[in-house]
Amino acid sequence: MIKLETSVPGPKSLRILKGLKEKNGGWSISYPLVFSGKGEGPYCEDIDGNVFLDFGSQIASNPLGYNHPELLETIRSYSNRFPIKYAGQDFAVREHLKMIEEITDIAPRGFDSAFLINSGAEAVENAMKICMRKRPGTKFGISMEKGWHGRTLGALSLTNSNYVHKKGYMRLPTVRLPYNEDAAEHLERLLRTEASPDEIGFVMVEHVQGEGGYNIAPKKMVEELRRVTHQNGIPYIADEVQCGVGRTGRWWAFEHYGITPDIFTSAKALQVAAVVAPHRMFPHEAGAISSTWGGGQIIDMALGIRTIEIIKKDKLLSHNARLGHYMLRYLNDMKGITGQRGLGLMLAFDLPTARLRDNLIAECTARGLLLLGCGTKTIRLVPPYVAAKEDADKAFALIEAALRRVSVRGFTHHGAICDFVHCGKHHT
Ligand SMILES: Cc1ncc(COP(=O)(O)O)c(C=O)c1O
Repeated sequence: MIKLETSVPGPKSLRILKGLKEKNGGWSISYPLVFSGKGEGPYCEDIDGNVFLDFGSQIASNPLGYNHPELLETIRSYSNRFPIKYAGQDFAVREHLKMIEEITDIAPRGFDSAFLINSGAEAVENAMKICMRKRPGTKFGISMEKGWHGRTLGALSLTNSNYVHKKGYMRLPTVRLPYNEDAAEHLERLLRTEASPDEIGFVMVEHVQGEGGYNIAPKKMVEELRRVTHQNGIPYIADEVQCGVGRTGRWWAFEHYGITPDIFTSAKALQVAAVVAPHRMFPHEAGAISSTWGGGQIIDMALGIRTIEIIKKDKLLSHNARLGHYMLRYLNDMKGITGQRGLGLMLAFDLPTARLRDNLIAECTARGLLLLGCGTKTIRLVPPYVAAKEDADKAFALIEAALRRVSVRGFTHHGAICDFVHCGKHHT
């Protein structure tokens, strides 16, 4: 149950947030609360005793919500040992193999190998490197307009979001295709006029774009792009960092399109990051790709393994598909919003302006509901897989009430919340 004991942020949270704002070298915290570690299911408690309903799931990285009893049990089983991180690409632990077995078990047939690493961006980075190593001499990569692939320099080169993420940083050569039904035609024209297939390192696609606006790839775009890449021997990488591990109602979003990529990435919900592909795709020279912690984060891997087991045991794929349908139907009837869309528990809608979107997020936060923005004026709904229909109803009631409030002409937020959220105050 949502419970608000103080204004948001509460005094204890405010002290820590102010300290972080002063001292955190990469300031970007935009939610006015500090997590206490307490909470249950989709509800989390801050250090001021306020309880929030979380429909952002820590940007899709917390699929089973707060304090899932089986995940707590997994953590407890490691409480009497140290270290909990090994230099896993050089020194083996059991969990490394088990995690690879679990992820390849839920991958398409033939995807029998995986490389484990620390973050989504590193998974993307390594997928790119694996493709380059396989076909030496390629000159550029291809990604999609509005794509988001992370912030390491290779991944950032593929990312096509806000300039603030790229300003001043060097890039790898990248060509972008439109994220629509014309994509394959653009690629074919490129092949006719600019480049031979062996100059193109890979094509990277999010089948549901995350940061770019929860845009769902048109079926024709994916089918045609896959056909052209296949015919020309250009590796097709699916970036499943945000949409993978069951969120869309299937294990992988590309499954909705009846295609198989050559290689795919995973992270976030998996608790570790992975590049998954048939064994022949990976470099055979030892050390061609590696990292100190990759495959050695035993608690992360144990939690990832358990997460997959729980999704299977509790039949959460069909739950996500069902709840997603219910939520999309509700959204379609909601007034004052447009562009309602969704695949499983990856749902979104647009507001008339960015200012209204940001005000809505701030107002919902103040009322105890955590939501995320994306794109230019989009709200994404990313509930944890343990959310029930009643939680969705609660979220929708709050969104509708908050929307009525922020739609009043001249509405602005006041107080400390404005220092920690992107609310209308910051727009001109
Ligand atoms: C589709 C996609 N790829 C890659 C990344 C980068 O992941 P990370 O932030 O773990 O580096 C993200 C993160 O939001 C993502 O959504």
